[in-house]
Amino acid sequence: MRADILALLRSMGEGYVSGEEIASRLGISRTAVWKHIQELREAGYEIESRSRNGYRLMGSPDRLLPAEIERHLQTEILGRHIVYSESTQSTNEDAKKLAAAGAADGTVVVTEFQGDGHGRLARGWFSPYGKGALFSVILRPQFALPQEAPKFTLLAAVAVVKAMKSCGVEAGIKWPNDVLIDGKKSTGILTEMSAAMECINYIVIGIGVNVNTDAADFPEEVRKKATSMKLAAGHSIDRARFVGELLNILERLLHQAQREGFAPILDAWRRDSITLGQDVRVIGMNEAVDATFEGRAVDIDAYGALLVDTPQGQRRVLAGDVSIRPQKKA
Ligand code: BTN
Repeated sequence: MRADILALLRSMGEGYVSGEEIASRLGISRTAVWKHIQELREAGYEIESRSRNGYRLMGSPDRLLPAEIERHLQTEILGRHIVYSESTQSTNEDAKKLAAAGAADGTVVVTEFQGDGHGRLARGWFSPYGKGALFSVILRPQFALPQEAPKFTLLAAVAVVKAMKSCGVEAGIKWPNDVLIDGKKSTGILTEMSAAMECINYIVIGIGVNVNTDAADFPEEVRKKATSMKLAAGHSIDRARFVGELLNILERLLHQAQREGFAPILDAWRRDSITLGQDVRVIGMNEAVDATFEGRAVDIDAYGALLVDTPQGQRRVLAGDVSIRPQKKA
């Protein structure tokens, strides 16, 4: 109901709408209208009221509130149920609990701040309150096998690059899941899964994007390696619009993967990759011996594993960490 009232206020632009009109259009009492308006104000919406004219929306809060994201959605499933909290430990942990309890396909868990945001290889993910896009999407893909889960990470990275582009920010993907702007990390993606033998129960794709983070917000030790969309664009980005657009793109790519398989997604990943064609140092996780090696990243295979040419032959990296080595001067 609050979303309907907001939509009505928005549709008036600079104009007013009376409590009576809201009540009759939405089929509720004027007291209920007043209560909802109070709640919206408490959530940070600036709503002016004039005794003769009624209500007018003057400003919306810079929060990732469901109503703010929903107005940018063109999806069927993704983001049609959004669980919002101002602060939580980790949206991935919340999403896994919700998924295990039966939450619907496409449910999104979003927050302004995480006390224990984490990433791959037991690394932390820090983002100051109200400046990032921190959310996790629950998926129940019927069309994919458990061993295909890494491809959802690649798909998510492609979606992030496209969503950034729609905001005028150019980015590239460092294998497997880092989105870099000007060579610095802007985004991390953590995909987790619950599966039985042949079927995926659920996948949680956790995405953390530095959207409006300022340089001084980054901890000293990562300042040289991290950036944000705002730092690249030179102005603040509408976070709710960005998240909405990212969910739209994610759903389009998921539909494409369902219809055509992952091949076109992997091609899009290749186009956006900044790893392929580069000399890299790999700290592999899927090899017991000689886990660290160097070579040239040449491709990804049908499972999303990185293929690296080394003097000893080609090696396949399914999990691990890759750093791009500076080009030698000619
Ligand atoms: C990485 O860089 O290794 C991945 C970082 C992923 C961070 C996001 S923020 C939202 C979601 N919740 C988490 O705890 N992690 C992911």
